[in-house]
Amino acid sequence: MVVAGQACSQNHAGSPTSPRLSTPHEWEPAARLPYRRADSSRHCRAAAVAGSIIFSTFMNLYKEVIRPFLFLGDPESVHHLAMDVLSLFGPVLQRFGPTPDPRLERTVFGLRFPNPVGLAAGFDKNGVALPAWQGLGFGFAEIGTITARAQPGNPKPRIFRIPQYRALINRLGFNNDGCDAIACRLQRLKETTQWPKIPVGINLGKSKVTPLAEATADYLLSFERLQHFGDYFVLNVSSPNTPGLRNLQDRAALDELLGHIQRRNTAGRPVLVKIAPDLQWEAIEEILALVEEHKIAGLIATNTTIDHSGVPEENHTQGGLSGAPLRDRSTEILRFITSRSKVPVIAVGGIMSADDALQKFDAGAALVQLYTGYIYEGPGLIGKINRALLRRG
Ligand SMILES: Cc1cc2nc3c(=O)[nH]c(=O)nc-3n(C[C@H](O)[C@H](O)[C@H](O)COP(=O)(O)O)c2cc1C
Repeated sequence: MVVAGQACSQNHAGSPTSPRLSTPHEWEPAARLPYRRADSSRHCRAAAVAGSIIFSTFMNLYKEVIRPFLFLGDPESVHHLAMDVLSLFGPVLQRFGPTPDPRLERTVFGLRFPNPVGLAAGFDKNGVALPAWQGLGFGFAEIGTITARAQPGNPKPRIFRIPQYRALINRLGFNNDGCDAIACRLQRLKETTQWPKIPVGINLGKSKVTPLAEATADYLLSFERLQHFGDYFVLNVSSPNTPGLRNLQDRAALDELLGHIQRRNTAGRPVLVKIAPDLQWEAIEEILALVEEHKIAGLIATNTTIDHSGVPEENHTQGGLSGAPLRDRSTEILRFITSRSKVPVIAVGGIMSADDALQKFDAGAALVQLYTGYIYEGPGLIGKINRALLRRG
């Protein structure tokens, strides 16, 4: 049985539903945001210039110097190290990050995005580095997958690099701190000036110990606990690493889940569904009908694939494949959706270059997200995509 909804400890000041919370929609368009306070003094300007130089040097050195060094370590340990650094330096990055260009702004499902390139779910599962994502230039960031109960995930090792194919296989299994701890963390951040000025998505999944038949209650619990912190919510029913989870993409199960979530969605947050690349066309058509029926704000296409034919057999291991070998299937799914429906789609899967991202926009994506491309190409990939979009006009 899920036990959640505990209050944050005293030093977290305020309850999760404290009236002091700004609503997620209160942030302003990028061009008018106080990304940098009035830098009246010369010191501030010098610091900003130095910050920008360090930032762009880091971007340029990533593939030549930083990535070879990072790839010496175990993927998950390196990830934790990177997250520690980003959570520590997030506020600094936030202050000296790139200035948003108003020409890149998009309004999708009622939210304003300073640019259309976001961080995909799974990178910041626990929402520990939110200021950093804005500072690194992302136009939005999706945290999670978060489950109602804290859980350790599958036994290690559980992330595998396949560098020759610019791919990863992971079977993490929703390791995360659980909705209570994360709600408290988000609450503390809301009470500072560091809450990001980009939309924050919250991706929800089912706790492993909760039987599939009780999945809806499990999602509802974390949705209600986190409802005040997300600009949009994603129901992740497509991870291959939680037994049975993908059955929630079936018509009856999804109908029940979407119906209950939307009934409790009193604040009217955009709710999206993230789908697998391994679905048959008929299954996607059924999902599209449910999306319309339940007024779902958008789809995220796609999660990782269980089809490992894109990498050599010696690399096959249990888990979801992401990166370059996923790109075309993911785009095929995107095209299928956009040819049949007007529902906005966030495209994710195999975006390793600006051209890959343009291909997703050409196929009808409203926004894009990065995960594996970010690991292989580094933070410079965001700027490359945005500059390519500007060049295209
Ligand atoms: C290590 C790893 C962990 C992931 N964890 C999650 C997760 O918790 N929730 C989720 O919805 N997707 C998760 N994903 C899937 C990504 O968000 C994305 O949908 C997928 O990797 C395809 O995009 P990519 O090719 O750019 O990586 C994860 C991917 C990777 C590689």
